[in-house]
Amino acid sequence: MAEDIEQAVSRRRTFAIIAHPDAGKTTLTEKLLLFGGAIQLAGEVKAKKDRIQTRSDWMKIERERGISVVTSVMTFEYEDNVFNLLDTPGHEDFADDTYRTLSAVDSAVMVIDAAKGIEPRTLKLFEVCRLRDIPIITFINKMDRESRDPFEILDEIEQKLALDTAPITWPIGRGKTFSGTYHLALNAVRKGDAEKDRTPVNGPDSNRVAGLLPENEREAFIEELELAREACRPLDIDSFREGHLTPVYFGSALRNYGVRDLIEALGAFGPPPRAQEADTRKVEATEEKMTSFVFKIQANMDPNHRDRIAFVRVCSGKLERGMKAKLVRTGKPMSLSAPQFFFARTRVTADEAFAGDVVGIPNHGTLRIGDTLTEGEEILFRGVPNFAPEILRRVRLGDAMKAKKLKEALHQMAEEGVVQLFSPEDGSPAIVGVVGALQLDVLKERLNFEYTLPVEFEMSRFSVCRWISADDKAETLRFIEAHRGDIARDLDNDPVFLAQHAFSLNYEAERWKAIRFATIKDYQ
Ligand code: G4P
Repeated sequence: MAEDIEQAVSRRRTFAIIAHPDAGKTTLTEKLLLFGGAIQLAGEVKAKKDRIQTRSDWMKIERERGISVVTSVMTFEYEDNVFNLLDTPGHEDFADDTYRTLSAVDSAVMVIDAAKGIEPRTLKLFEVCRLRDIPIITFINKMDRESRDPFEILDEIEQKLALDTAPITWPIGRGKTFSGTYHLALNAVRKGDAEKDRTPVNGPDSNRVAGLLPENEREAFIEELELAREACRPLDIDSFREGHLTPVYFGSALRNYGVRDLIEALGAFGPPPRAQEADTRKVEATEEKMTSFVFKIQANMDPNHRDRIAFVRVCSGKLERGMKAKLVRTGKPMSLSAPQFFFARTRVTADEAFAGDVVGIPNHGTLRIGDTLTEGEEILFRGVPNFAPEILRRVRLGDAMKAKKLKEALHQMAEEGVVQLFSPEDGSPAIVGVVGALQLDVLKERLNFEYTLPVEFEMSRFSVCRWISADDKAETLRFIEAHRGDIARDLDNDPVFLAQHAFSLNYEAERWKAIRFATIKDYQ
């Protein structure tokens, strides 16, 4: 039976986990998938992380450096909800990939190590969520270890992130004595994730709570809970959905505490797929006609097939297998003959997908990041961002005969978002730009492995890159004319100004007041 669009949309929760490395993102992901029945045994996600890395040569980088390069999506069900968990690379050199992925979620779970509090990557990722008004649920992890005082952690979130907190549960015990969570509003206790239902209690002084704590901690717990009730904010759903307040849960992903609380929260009040801004209008998730956009391209998911998968976030309507969609950038029709859903272990053909769902579309280079697919409407989704690269390099090829092949390969890598490519107006060889140095390593490995193109990188004389525009197009043209040697074009043929250093950029910005020098460009 085909699912009704409205009902399907209301069941969907599409989210990402943001965390500083080591806070427990992988462990939590695994536990969430376990609940959804997407995997059978704990340890599989981690094992998968390791195994994938040995599959192909270019993935060697990931193995050697112990970082996750691959972003993927995992779909699972729990009770009435369908969850799409979008995974993001942990290393900051792949930050642009993470930011693009965040453009495709409706909420985020922020994992915080209870002993460490807010760490630098948490802060950075949080800022991106705030820019996009993404509501955040907080999971304070590792309560089974020596941790900070819960009030102190809540205070740090409020101070450092300027975000209101509303603890929904409170930890019963800490470190070695951590033995469950207390639901503040419901007065109910859950010993651990093995317990499906919470046990209602009369209050923190009930026998049930006492039984979970050593005698010398009982009194303090009662006082602490009373204080939490008095001092902390209650949950305000509107404020949460607007991104001003975060509901907070305590737990231990490793020891199976608090994960069920979290998944229930996502189901109960996590936002369903939101309306998406397009260039000419806002698209509601429940509209009949299918619209979607590409936020990620991944090659070599399965090296045996050498395929290229475009990850598409459905924004409205129903994406059905076999349907003809319009690729708005080119105006050409495209047959969606084999859309796929991803689970932890497998991928399966997707017969139908709704707003909030993420499907993989195999293709041979037709789709690129930021593309919009519709049932015919001429709209473009904005908001998959492009960040001005921090590192600019020229690619040096040993064998000059292969220059054309290199050009094509770089073009493809740029379409996948591995690097950005800039072609100077003066005809000199293209410049690659990356946000983090590891992206250059990935580029090098992939050029070697996939295209047999061994390359080296050379310093470019430029170190700063900005997209240029002005309200008056003629002014942009005048600027370009006056700086021919320092202008290049990106993949969309949009002009960028290349400067030797920040000083020369500032100098030009002073002289050309009408020109905007942008560090972020939304794909179009
Ligand atoms: P990440 O993806 O955010 O980088 O973190 P990951 O889940 O890999 O967890 C980092 C380390 O913290 C792992 O230990 C993991 O077992 C541990 N960990 C995660 N959640 C908890 C928790 O709730 N309590 C405790 N005590 N530890 C937790 P590791 O020694 O680095 O790896 P492993 O060899 O144990 O897998």
